[in-house]
Amino acid sequence: MMRKIAIAAVAALTLSGGAAMAAGAAGHVEDVDFSFEGPFGSFDQNQLQRGLQVYTEVCAACHGLKFVPLRTLADEGGPQLPEDQVRAYAGQFEIFDAELDDFRPRTETDHFPESNLSNAPDLSLMAKARAGFHGPYGSGLNQLFKGMGGPEYIHSLLMGYTGEEKVEAGTTLYENTAFPGGWIGMAPPLYEDQLEFADGHSNAMESVAEDVSAFLMWTAEPKMMARKQTGFVAVLFLSVLTVLLYLTNKRIWMPVKRKEKNT
Ligand code: HEC
Repeated sequence: MMRKIAIAAVAALTLSGGAAMAAGAAGHVEDVDFSFEGPFGSFDQNQLQRGLQVYTEVCAACHGLKFVPLRTLADEGGPQLPEDQVRAYAGQFEIFDAELDDFRPRTETDHFPESNLSNAPDLSLMAKARAGFHGPYGSGLNQLFKGMGGPEYIHSLLMGYTGEEKVEAGTTLYENTAFPGGWIGMAPPLYEDQLEFADGHSNAMESVAEDVSAFLMWTAEPKMMARKQTGFVAVLFLSVLTVLLYLTNKRIWMPVKRKEKNT
């Protein structure tokens, strides 16, 4: 009986594994050691500032961040720009003001603009909307050790172009090893030595892709630091409570146990 169950289980695993593989070139995603991973990880402020620059100079031409309020750029745990810089940054984007019946520069109380290009998805929540790790056999177990892999997916996507192109129904598609299906409608946005960073950090494509992925993780989960801190305090509290309850339990039952021993 046990043997039959075992055989059935193995067969089910192999079959579903095969199905998952057949269902699709899910795309290849490389793990990246981001500073914000692990229970004590935190965002790297300089990296977020570089990522903001990459987004602004490259991605913003097509992609929006319409769910992100501009004022959060000054928030602790984020890029933490000084207030006057946030105001200046906001001012470069225009918004239609119904009250004025005209366009005006954005202020820190507005959000980032929407996507400029209708078929370019909004990136505000992209790092949490995509998972980089699915395995083994689609069980998602890897996510336990490596995280969901959203920022890793974006990083691999930016680095995953093979250089092959094809035109299908009037649209140019670019071969990409991370994109599910293998062909994406976004032209390779990054190239080597494209940007200059004020902090003199490396502008190698690999590093730029990491910076913008980290920035997009922040836009998708700006309160990650607060969440981890709360989680840590909760675990600490529960551990202390467990010890106290154990000792209380001992003490309450002590007279009864002692009596039992004596009889
Ligand atoms: C020239 C316009 C353009 C630029 C610049 C651009 N993108 Fe895109 N991007 C697109 C389009 C169009 C799509 C949709 C492609 C598709 O679904 O085939 C897309 C899709 C994406 C996706 C979603 C992929 C998915 O899984 O659906 C991500 C993530 C992304 N872009 C990130 C970026 C980042 C980061 C940058 C800046 C470094 C950037 N893009 C720059 C046009 C652009």
